[in-house]
Amino acid sequence: MAKNFDVVVIGGGPGGYIAAIRCAQLGLNTACIDEWQNRAGGPAPGGTCTNVGCIPSKALLQSSEHYEHAGHAFAEHGIGLDNLRIDVAKMIGRKDAVVKQNNDGILYLFKKNKVGFFHGRGSFVKAADGGWEIAVAGSANETLQAKQVIVATGSNARALPGAPFDEERILSNDGALRIGAVPKTLGLIGSGVIGLEMGSVWRRLGAQVTVLEALPEFLAAVDAQVAKEAWKAFTKQGLKIELGVKVGEVKAGKKGVSVAWTDAKGAAQVLEVERLIVSIGRVPNTAGLNAEGVGLKLDERGAIVVDDHCRTNLPGVWAVGDVVRGPMLAHKAEEEGVAVAERIAGQHGHVDFNTIPWVIYTSPEIAWVGQTEQQLKAAGRAYRAGSFPFLANGRARALGDTTGFVKILADAQTDEILGVHVIGPMASELIAEAVVAMEFKASAEDIARICHAHPSLSEATKEAALAVDKRTLNF
Ligand code: FAD
Ligand code: NAI
Repeated sequence: MAKNFDVVVIGGGPGGYIAAIRCAQLGLNTACIDEWQNRAGGPAPGGTCTNVGCIPSKALLQSSEHYEHAGHAFAEHGIGLDNLRIDVAKMIGRKDAVVKQNNDGILYLFKKNKVGFFHGRGSFVKAADGGWEIAVAGSANETLQAKQVIVATGSNARALPGAPFDEERILSNDGALRIGAVPKTLGLIGSGVIGLEMGSVWRRLGAQVTVLEALPEFLAAVDAQVAKEAWKAFTKQGLKIELGVKVGEVKAGKKGVSVAWTDAKGAAQVLEVERLIVSIGRVPNTAGLNAEGVGLKLDERGAIVVDDHCRTNLPGVWAVGDVVRGPMLAHKAEEEGVAVAERIAGQHGHVDFNTIPWVIYTSPEIAWVGQTEQQLKAAGRAYRAGSFPFLANGRARALGDTTGFVKILADAQTDEILGVHVIGPMASELIAEAVVAMEFKASAEDIARICHAHPSLSEATKEAALAVDKRTLNF
């Protein structure tokens, strides 16, 4: 006997679990199916983000940053430490505990909002009664029926051809987050977001890190001035980054991994490392959904094809998050989940792709929203740029972290803010003001006229806005 719901959500990552909660808030009888298992085989909702993505990576970034500060920054504050050491097992245990708090929090939220939770794999069976029949294969097999289905099945790490992940020597993000001891040497393929974040964690803890990147340009999607500053900072910290490389054969042995590669000048090279993290992007995950069986349309990358409103080609079937087009970010997945829930309830949910912030949680942090200077140039848009260095910000000096700057790009005629780029301390938090400003179509002058607390890092944003009009006060 099928259990009936208004909405069934397949996938309990940030896209799916948030969509389910919003549906329930709107009075829809909702179920969420998620197959992620913790080590004991129990449910671990939250998807990639909670289990092997955003949350655990930020936990390790925090631990490793404390370690680096204790080793390098404390002395200038007059704090001395003898016998500084890192207990990697404890650090990983803390990270696991943070993950579990988040898993438990989602289960609690499901209960609080009366979302039915099913632990197992969900797949389409057939169209039924103007909706869909969905099978759940888990500890208990169930059949659900729903008028509307939201697919939020996320993504998986892309492997290098011929070098599958063994999570011992060749690691995806999953293995990268549970290395048991600091490797002497660590290789990373890809200097994207995961490459830089994970490379930073293990470098701070003492690994000699080499990153091999295919593109000739570093952080090509980031504002070029920010990318230049980031390159300076990361290479100074000791990350060895090789650009324009071609990765060849990868061989994993008992003690390590050997990577044949060709450098930018065409010379053959070999990298021998204890462990190798492959972070060359992610692929949408539709395995086990029976997409083909019901005719759910996928594109050439394997992503579910959706329109601007996240509607698929099947009636009553929606898809959100990493499994569809657009940036693979947790907050993008969440916003789409909310918007779809609201559309199902007859409202007008909307996601503005122009104001989705990006953050890279390295040190210095990098964050941006809107257009880069190179994008504006390519589009032939007339703009004015203003920037302000943290070196001239009192709070940054007090913190002892003066790397980087805030940069604001505004339309030359109207002064509307078109992009904000931050590299430096707490960029992840500072970017929120820029997102709000852009959502409200603020001008640079609007930010310049707003009172910002002193001393605070946010004053650098105000000063960058003043700089657009060439009238900084403190630089
Ligand atoms: P997912 O989080 O992948 O969730 C999908 C869920 O569906 C999973 O639980 C999966 O088990 C389940 N599932 C799949 N198929 C089925 C099925 N048939 N039946 C039942 N369940 C199924 N983004 C940020 O915004 N900020 C960050 O700091 C950040 N850090 C990251 C760090 C790393 C190392 C990685 C890998 C990613 C990071 N991301 C970050 C990206 C972020 O994790 C993803 O964009 C986000 O998790 C996508 O959410 P989602 O709900 O679409 O999919
Ligand atoms: P990415 O797309 O950020 O970077 C992949 C890098 O690998 C690119 O620079 C690419 O040029 C390079 N590359 C691709 N193929 C290669 C090859 N064969 N040899 C060498 N280099 C190659 O992907 P990444 O780092 O795997 O992360 C996946 C996604 O997860 C990100 O795009 C992002 O959406 C999300 N994420 C977000 C984070 C955040 O918001 N802070 C943190 C981590 C991940």
